[in-house]
Amino acid sequence: MTVTIVGSQLGDEGKGGIVDVYGDAVDIVARYQGGDNAGHTVVEDGEEYKLSLVPSGAIRSKVGVLGNGCVVNPETLFDELDALRERDLDPDLRVAARAHVIFPYHRILDGIEEDAKSEEGDLEAATTGRGIGPAYEDKVGRRGVRIGDLLDPETLRARLEYVVPQKRALAEDVFEIETGDAFDVETLFEQYRAFGERLREEGMVVNAGEFLSDAIDAGQNVMLEGAQGTSIDIDHGIYPYVTSSNPTAGGACTGAGLGPTAVGQGEIIGIVKAYLSRVGTGPLPTELAGVEGHTPGYEPPGESGETGRAVTAGTLQSDEELANYIREEGGEYGTVTGRARRVGWLDIPMLRHATRASGFTGVVVNHVDTLAGLDEIKVGHSYTLDGEERFSLPGTTEQWADCEPNYRAFDGWPDQDWAAVAEGGYDALPENARTYLEYISDELGVPIYAVGVGPGRSETLVLEQPF
Ligand code: IMP
Repeated sequence: MTVTIVGSQLGDEGKGGIVDVYGDAVDIVARYQGGDNAGHTVVEDGEEYKLSLVPSGAIRSKVGVLGNGCVVNPETLFDELDALRERDLDPDLRVAARAHVIFPYHRILDGIEEDAKSEEGDLEAATTGRGIGPAYEDKVGRRGVRIGDLLDPETLRARLEYVVPQKRALAEDVFEIETGDAFDVETLFEQYRAFGERLREEGMVVNAGEFLSDAIDAGQNVMLEGAQGTSIDIDHGIYPYVTSSNPTAGGACTGAGLGPTAVGQGEIIGIVKAYLSRVGTGPLPTELAGVEGHTPGYEPPGESGETGRAVTAGTLQSDEELANYIREEGGEYGTVTGRARRVGWLDIPMLRHATRASGFTGVVVNHVDTLAGLDEIKVGHSYTLDGEERFSLPGTTEQWADCEPNYRAFDGWPDQDWAAVAEGGYDALPENARTYLEYISDELGVPIYAVGVGPGRSETLVLEQPF
């Protein structure tokens, strides 16, 4: 069977940790979209692993697959594999022949287009700069290079000879930058042919859809691991401040090469962070305070508001202080970029939208420990838009920016020994935390499968085993 893990918010909900928690029964972990823009942190025996491309299950001796819906930077791929091998892990990783390749020119074009969008007036998405959007553009524009092509020098050369001059012209004539090796056919051919050789030597390239469905037919358990989150999905997110793929469950079908029946017969688990965090631009109705350069129209306060690390939960007054506190407690800095994340209260309309778009069969709520110590915890229960109460995301990002959240307040819960809570089970959770969790579950009409109360696997309370 399959279990699909989907981010229900804006990415960084702690999906990697949950893949790991449920990993015991898993044979294969497959990613179905995205590339090295994703950042997952997995803690194993006190060791922290930060991965951006390799699926998180691969550190636990599961077979990892990068599905055809992924965009793969071979340089990152081999760097991560080599780094894991240096730490005595030997992940068995397969890559779809149909996955698309990220080239150095994609990264450069990603950066210069962001600059151009910024100059044109706040249109940039604050991308991770990994070339994700430009690589997907080439895929849809039918001029991309696929992993399978790297193993076939003739095809690789032909593809590069077609596409690279176009990219060079775009960079030089439209964006007026100087180009170098990153736009040179011969250099790229040699470098990427060598990646192809290594992929072949290591036996990594597979027909992913067939590989996965054969495994399912043979009774194996497949975890489909989404990257990013629903609100930055290219179709269901806050366009244009989105990533260029489908993190929602539909993406698991197209991006892994499995039918909706295969995915739908399994479980689809939405991962929820107990508050909101966001790396990137665009509106965020329940945002607390803001982050310069990312929050539209935000200007940092003077010294009085900048309380930063020194504050304790009991002394928090302003939204600025709350945001700083949650950011520090939750370690809300980008895994890939190190950027400070924007922070906000939980947004229930966003979660209702995510639950519908992916058809969640269960949710996991993470970071419940991060909110500990706050007197009061708010959630955006609904929005008011043009005088009407709305319970889900409106159809356009501009309307979303005009939404005023209607908050509900919950009593906070004290900090405690969370490892003991995790051991004690659901009833060991503070009563106010249970009230909060039950409200989320009731509003979404979906049961809670697990609760995260810390970063390690042992700090997750598991209520349901999906496999
Ligand atoms: P890209 O995916 O690098 O093109 O970036 C597009 C948008 O998605 C930007 O707002 C990024 O900050 C956001 N994004 C991409 N990957 C992640 C992720 O793994 N977590 C959170 N946000 C992400």
